[in-house]
Parts: sequence; C-alpha cells; structure tokens
Amino acid sequence: MMPNYSQLIATGSYLPERVLDNHELSTWVDTSDEWIVARTGIHSRHLAAEGQGSVDMATRAAERALAAAGLQATDIDLIIVATTTPDQIFPSTACLVQARLGNQGAAAFDVQAVCTGFIYALATADQFLRSGAATTALVIGVETMSRIVDWQDRSTCILFGDGAGAVILRAAQQPGILSTHLHADGRYAELLQVPQAESHLTMQGNAVFRMAVRTLGDIVQETLSANGLQSSDIDWLVPHQANIRIIQATAEKLALPMERVVVTVGKHGNVSAASVPLALDHAVQRNCFRPGQLLLLEAFGGGFTWGSALLRWT
Ligand code: COA
Repeated sequence: MMPNYSQLIATGSYLPERVLDNHELSTWVDTSDEWIVARTGIHSRHLAAEGQGSVDMATRAAERALAAAGLQATDIDLIIVATTTPDQIFPSTACLVQARLGNQGAAAFDVQAVCTGFIYALATADQFLRSGAATTALVIGVETMSRIVDWQDRSTCILFGDGAGAVILRAAQQPGILSTHLHADGRYAELLQVPQAESHLTMQGNAVFRMAVRTLGDIVQETLSANGLQSSDIDWLVPHQANIRIIQATAEKLALPMERVVVTVGKHGNVSAASVPLALDHAVQRNCFRPGQLLLLEAFGGGFTWGSALLRWT
C-alpha cells in the first residue's frame, strides 16, 4: 500500500561550545544586556569555533537524530539540508554531510529559504515520502550565521547565532504531518539580505518585525482553516526562534499560554534555518510532547519567506 503520510520519528541537535553572552557582547558593541533582553529575549548565542562550519554542525545533529531513531546512516534515502550559510558554494551541504555520514547513493540537496528553510525542507521531504519517492528522510537546518553577521553593527549582531538541528521522517500510513504551507514575496528582498557574496547581513529591523508578526498570524489561521481546526485544538506552538516578542504575538493570536510554546531563543538567539529543529529537539529531550498532540511549527525569514507545518505527534 502507498504511504499517505510522513511521521517525524526522531530529533537531534548541536550547539557549538563557545557561548557569547550579552555581557561579553556589550564589550564588542555599544549595547547592554538589559536592552537586548527587553527587545529580543536573547541572553546568549553559540559561536562556531575557528575551522568549524555548517557541515560539521549538521553532521553532529544528524548523528544524534539517527541514534535517537535507532537507525544507521545507510537507512536514509533522502537528505535535505536547509541552510543560508553553506561552507562552500558547491557541493551542497547535503552532499558533504552525506559523505561524512557514509550513505552514498541517497538523494541529497540543499534548500535556501533563510529562516523558513527548515519548514521548506520539511515540506519537501513530506512530499517525497507521501508520494513514495523516498522512505526515510533526514532533514537538517544548520547555520553559521557568525560568518555573515557584521560584528560591528549592534542592530543586527545581537540577534544571531550558530547551530544545527535535525529530524528523521519516515513514510507511514497515518499522520504524522497533516499539512504544510509555504509562501514567499520577493518584493521585500531588500529589508533583510546579504547583498552580495562576501558581504554582511543587513536588515531594517522595524519593518521586518511588523511583517513577521502579520504573516505569522496569517499563516497560523491558514493552517487551522485548512485542517478545519480551532486555535484551541493546538497543543504546542514550535515557532522560529527570532525574537520573543514575535513569538508572543503569534501565541496571543492562537490564545495559547506561553507554557505551550517552545521557547529557546534566550539561549541561542536566531539560528535561522536551525531554529525550529533546535526548538523541537529541546522539547523532545524534555519529553514535552505526548502521542496524539497537535504541534504547529512556523517560521518567517528573508525573501521574505514564511511557512508552517501541522503535525500530530506519534
Ligand atoms: N543596543 C542598544 N541600542 C540599540 C541597539 C542595541 N543592540 N540596536 C539598536 N539600538 C538603538 C537604535 O540605534 C535606536 O536608537 P535611536 O532611537 O537613538 O535612533 C533605538 O535603539 C531603537 O531602535 P529600533 O531599531 O527602533 O529598535 P527596535 O525596537 O525595532 O528593536 C530589533 C530592534 C532589531 C530588536 C527589532 O526591530 C527586531 O527584533 N526586528 C526583527 C528582527 C528579526 O527578527 N529578524 C529576523 C527575522 S527572521
């Protein structure tokens, strides 16, 4: 029988050892712990070591997800990596991770949708598994944001960090992932971008903030309507970890108490495509989710791009 769904069966994550807290960052640029915490909810971020890159971090997260699933790398027949910060222009990060893991032959490619990258990658893997084109997928979000951040620009450098998160999806007869929703509007490219290779990230923070709150509110409604659900049916919100105020605004639209929202932004800041899988793994490690519960994943990022996934925990 053809599988009709995919199920998320395991998670893994990796944060580099080096922690840069707001106090230390205040010695680099003119800012303060109070300002950063009040505006963003961020206390610290992790930075990749010299010589450590996206492939290293992605491989670590993938190994942990494989171990949690009780699978070998050779059981995987699809690898999708969401990243904005590949170590090389090519080969893709997915191919380099595949070589490290040692599962030659599996399809492997990258997805670039900035902070929404993991949702785009998850939606793509879901389609492969639903159609029968693959049976077991490794989906990774990884970023070395520290390499594209301008460490002299206090309006952006306070926000970002490095890390990786991974999930394993398996084709199944039961959901699993109930629906995914992806959008983009390239007219807003200039509000959040790295204008050229070798240059730094630039952002119009206020405008990005307003668009993020609006589009995330809309996509939450779109996801509920597509599934004939009320906001009270959602058990957990697993949001992109960009800013606590954006997360709170979405939770308010869902009338969801913050105890039902997975929040990790405080300890790692915005890790772009890695934020959602880092938050997922954080909650899984703490045994937060119960079988049958409904999880709403959402993200917003440069492009602009935005997306969501609704899944029933199994
Ligand atoms: N420390 C201290 N002061 C700072 C500062 C910092 N790190 N960064 C900016 N400021 C100052 C500004 O210079 C400005 O000073 P002025 O009033 O004298 O001109 C003041 O703080 C207010 O700046 P503003 O940009 O209006 O602040 P804000 O309330 O919009 O907060 C962000 C800035 C970046 C925290 C906020 O816009 C934001 O979070 N935006 C969304 C970013 C995001 O999530 N991007 C990724 C999406 S995936």
